[in-house]
Amino acid sequence: MISEPLRNPLSLFNVKGKSAIVTGATGAFGRATALTLASLGGKVTIAGGNKKELADVAEEIRSVGGEVCVVERRPDSLEDAQAMLDAALAAFGHVDQLVVGSGYNKAGFIHELALDDWQAVMDANVRGIWFMAKAVGTYWIKEKIKGKVVLMSSVRGRHGNISGYTGYCASKGATDSLTRVLATEWAKHGITVNAIAPTVFRSKLTAWMFGDDELGQATKQRSLARIPLGRLGEVEDLMGMALYLLSPASDFCTGQVMYVDGGFTAG
Ligand SMILES: NC(=O)c1ccc[n+]([C@@H]2O[C@H](COP(=O)([O-])OP(=O)(O)OC[C@H]3O[C@@H](n4cnc5c(N)ncnc54)[C@H](OP(=O)(O)O)[C@@H]3O)[C@@H](O)[C@H]2O)c1
Repeated sequence: MISEPLRNPLSLFNVKGKSAIVTGATGAFGRATALTLASLGGKVTIAGGNKKELADVAEEIRSVGGEVCVVERRPDSLEDAQAMLDAALAAFGHVDQLVVGSGYNKAGFIHELALDDWQAVMDANVRGIWFMAKAVGTYWIKEKIKGKVVLMSSVRGRHGNISGYTGYCASKGATDSLTRVLATEWAKHGITVNAIAPTVFRSKLTAWMFGDDELGQATKQRSLARIPLGRLGEVEDLMGMALYLLSPASDFCTGQVMYVDGGFTAG
């Protein structure tokens, strides 16, 4: 007897009717993920600090027939995370997926870097995850919802970088660790937690590598030289993995850092 997933494999990727919170939705990854889910019939609550960019993303989502709720907040506190959850519940009645697409980097060599700059990277990339996980995870456990979490790591969670990345590399190492510990802590609730770890793809975060900045250009070239597939990433390269991790296809996958990096970490 052929099981339903084998008879209809695309049903494994069905996200229709699911409701997602996406932080950093004004950014390259957040926007693309929100659009991908909405295009497939998902409902998305998009969060970010930039009102104008949020409105633009919301308009794009509506243009593909998607349902969207807008929350003008970054995950700077538990109150912010709770406000995103409350808005999503008011708009759609349930939340099934959490995508933490917000993130930040401030490169600087440690002998020149101020502690505040290091802390800002850790706060945006690590504390933000903790607030979102606490708010949404508490709701899922109470409501017995088998939610799905996608965090954004980086090849920098595993590799150092000579370009002044004490904050960024440490924050992504912590993201990898949070991925594993949340996955194991929540496994008994049926909640899956995974991370996507790309190498450089074009976004606001990496714009400094695509301009005249000498350190930026050197950083980009060094990444490029290490990528066996011979090019940098584009955000579309990440959407297959995002959809996999947010759909029933990944129900037996948790605690994993998924490298979508053109082979960077293979060499
Ligand atoms: N691009 C890459 O090459 C690359 C590679 C590996 C991993 N990643 C990771 O992928 C994730 C998404 O990055 P992206 O490339 O899509 O970047 P992006 O285009 O810059 O988007 C990130 C979003 O995060 C929000 N944000 C910025 N600073 C923040 C802060 N201090 N606190 C909270 N939120 C802040 C911004 O939205 P608002 O201003 O609207 O709040 C921004 O739109 C990040 O975790 C990043 O580290 C990126």
